[in-house]
Amino acid sequence: MSESRRPPFVVLGVTGGIAAYKAVEICRLLVDAGVHVAPVLTKDAAQFITPLTFSALASEPAQTELYNGVSPIPHTRLGQAADLILVAPATANLLGRLALGLADDLLTNTLLASRAQVVVAPAMHTEMWEQQSVQENIETLRARGVRIVGPAIGRLAGGDEGAGRMEDPSVIVEAVLTMLHGADNSTLTGRRIVISAGGTREAIDPVRVITNRSSGKQGHALAEVAMERGAEVTLVTSSSLGIQGKGSGSLSVVKVESAAQMHDAMLQESKDADIVIMAAAVADFRPVLTHGTKVKKDSGHLEVTFEPTEDILAALVNQRGSEQVIVGFAAETDNVLENARKKLAKKGCDLLVVNDVSAEATGFEHDTNEVVIIESNGNEMSIPMSSKRTIAGAILDSVVRSMKPSSGESKT
Ligand code: CTP
Repeated sequence: MSESRRPPFVVLGVTGGIAAYKAVEICRLLVDAGVHVAPVLTKDAAQFITPLTFSALASEPAQTELYNGVSPIPHTRLGQAADLILVAPATANLLGRLALGLADDLLTNTLLASRAQVVVAPAMHTEMWEQQSVQENIETLRARGVRIVGPAIGRLAGGDEGAGRMEDPSVIVEAVLTMLHGADNSTLTGRRIVISAGGTREAIDPVRVITNRSSGKQGHALAEVAMERGAEVTLVTSSSLGIQGKGSGSLSVVKVESAAQMHDAMLQESKDADIVIMAAAVADFRPVLTHGTKVKKDSGHLEVTFEPTEDILAALVNQRGSEQVIVGFAAETDNVLENARKKLAKKGCDLLVVNDVSAEATGFEHDTNEVVIIESNGNEMSIPMSSKRTIAGAILDSVVRSMKPSSGESKT
């Protein structure tokens, strides 16, 4: 099931600001996401960070010169090859030159010699950012279709605080990946996708429940991104997190609480779905007895006996139609990959998304995650620490790759 598609080509322009060091992280995240990255540094950027650092991490050596002696026209090669040009950080000077159509170095020549989409991540001091001239340039660029990411509010060089801080690398990379995969968005158009999210709550009495640490953020991010990519999404969730209803797809939400309710809703909703994703943290055990009235503390102690819940993923695999793609999640704390490979074989799903829920800044409750996507053919793909939306995009990319082409599509 391998596809021989050219990886997306991104020119990473780096200009001279203190945030230039963060462009190294952007470079690494893009390369890890399968993007071909060609770094271009301005002379000023090279005052802050060396081209060598980018050359070591990127897909090709970093370039700084318009006249480098090797290629007489490096800007046209880069400009024509690029699917997207990202400038991060983008100084006020670069924004001004771009708005005016000036070309006096390799980066600005590349920007002019290209029809690629352009993304800029401005970074500068608040006074500069708020200048009318800079704001007018930003408006000009925005009106021409340049995507502006940030800036954020926060600490600036020299200990100052305010608007002008370059947006977080993971946010910039997410914007770039969403734009790059925009061409693939139509692959979910008209597809029915059912996603479960959140930790289930098993009642002890009308007041008390047994639950787990899952927030539902990853499942909700999947629903949002799937909708943006045109899918008809049904989200079966125990989480009270909101959801942004954007995009060309549709969304219906089925609210559940217990594993039993989630089981019934998922089996019902999944019958005619193309894709089913079990991102929920389903309780493995529930109290055998649910008290009808509140257990008073005067009773001195409370004994709860548990029984296993239904394995929803196993039931979904049992009832699935031949063309349905089923994705499971695995929350592990030890022997993460080894346990996950066994889980994929045991559960019989097509993809398993594994995360180490004991690691810092990943898994339950966090906004970020770091996962490995294991396909049933043995392929494994690591997605580095990213926002849950970026992870959602990567999971949906894998799902699309493993889907049987519908009539009219062809796969190699
Ligand atoms: N899952 C399910 N029904 C359950 C328990 C889990 O459908 N009663 C699903 C989860 O939504 C997830 C996958 O099974 O997609 C794996 O969940 P996980 O908790 O990692 O594994 P378990 O099967 O519960 O096994 P263990 O807890 O022993 O690791």
